Amino acid sequence: MSLIKLIKKLPKTELHLHIEGSLEPSLMWALASKHGVSLPFDSVEAIEAAYQFEDLQSFLDLYYQGADVLRDEDDFYQLMMAYLTRCYEDNVVHAEIMFDPQTHTSRGVGFDVFMPAFQRAMDEAKQKWGMSVYLIMSFLRHLPEKDAIETLTQARAYYPMIKAVGLDSSELGNPPEKFVKVFAAARALGFKCVAHAGEEGPPEYIWQALDLLRVDRIDHGVRSIEDETLMKRLKDEGIPLTVCPQSNIKLCVFDHMKEHNILELLDDDLCVTVNADDPSYFGGYLNDNYRALMTHLAMDEIQLVKLVKNSFIASFLPPEEKNSWLRKIDLLVAGQ
Ligand code: HPA
Ligand code: ZN
Repeated sequence: MSLIKLIKKLPKTELHLHIEGSLEPSLMWALASKHGVSLPFDSVEAIEAAYQFEDLQSFLDLYYQGADVLRDEDDFYQLMMAYLTRCYEDNVVHAEIMFDPQTHTSRGVGFDVFMPAFQRAMDEAKQKWGMSVYLIMSFLRHLPEKDAIETLTQARAYYPMIKAVGLDSSELGNPPEKFVKVFAAARALGFKCVAHAGEEGPPEYIWQALDLLRVDRIDHGVRSIEDETLMKRLKDEGIPLTVCPQSNIKLCVFDHMKEHNILELLDDDLCVTVNADDPSYFGGYLNDNYRALMTHLAMDEIQLVKLVKNSFIASFLPPEEKNSWLRKIDLLVAGQ
């Protein structure tokens, strides 16, 4: 089987995906007109043309502006359903999806609007396609820790729907140490923990995420390569990195896909995974990201299978489910 076919055929998980970042320009346009929200663009094409970024902040400015069209329950249902449909098409059998409550509560759109919508779409995807979905509630790191603590409290009625907490938004100047208390509280409540670190920020932020926030996974983490001791720690403890290749190119973390370090990290035996981050803004869903590694980094079959297996190993699925998917992958690869 060709590598392209194998990318499509292998069951996969996606572990680093912001649901607000899957808002396609066409849906943004439709919801803006539904709610009478004025956008600074005069067509869907003009929205697409604006997706040129020089760094994380230039992207976040557009991303928060785009999320403003999400107003009622049906908007959030459509958003989640559109992404889960893409999962089905890409053979993503399990997804761990981040959402940013503060992006919505700050506009007067509360948990009672978006959580039932997410649940409805997740139930439908489970029923139609057998897909499993976990939610990761992410705190916005450019805001004070007290706002994150308030968000954790506001979410109380929905704790059973939430698997983990995360940390996203503007990394530089907002180190993990700012959020020690809220992560300790989340851990005490039984949530898994993840944090964006080492996307634009230095290796020191990854150390802090590990030592102070005690995270189970690092989102991005590509800058760990600058610190040999950190690389050893990640490897020895099997701490996964959820790497997002196309995101890193769009946000100029690397100048070109040919310079991306994901396969070096993989060949160094780190548990790296492939993810889309914000697919609508960065020009590709999960399989597009795998294909980019094949085209620009000459990823081979062994590396592909390792990356896909890592996506299950790094997930928060129960061990029996992980093992069952890993066995299916082995059978599929052996029988192709
Ligand atoms: N980094 C930080 N915050 C984010 C991102 C990202 O890639 N996407 C959405 N919020
Ligand atoms: Zn991200």
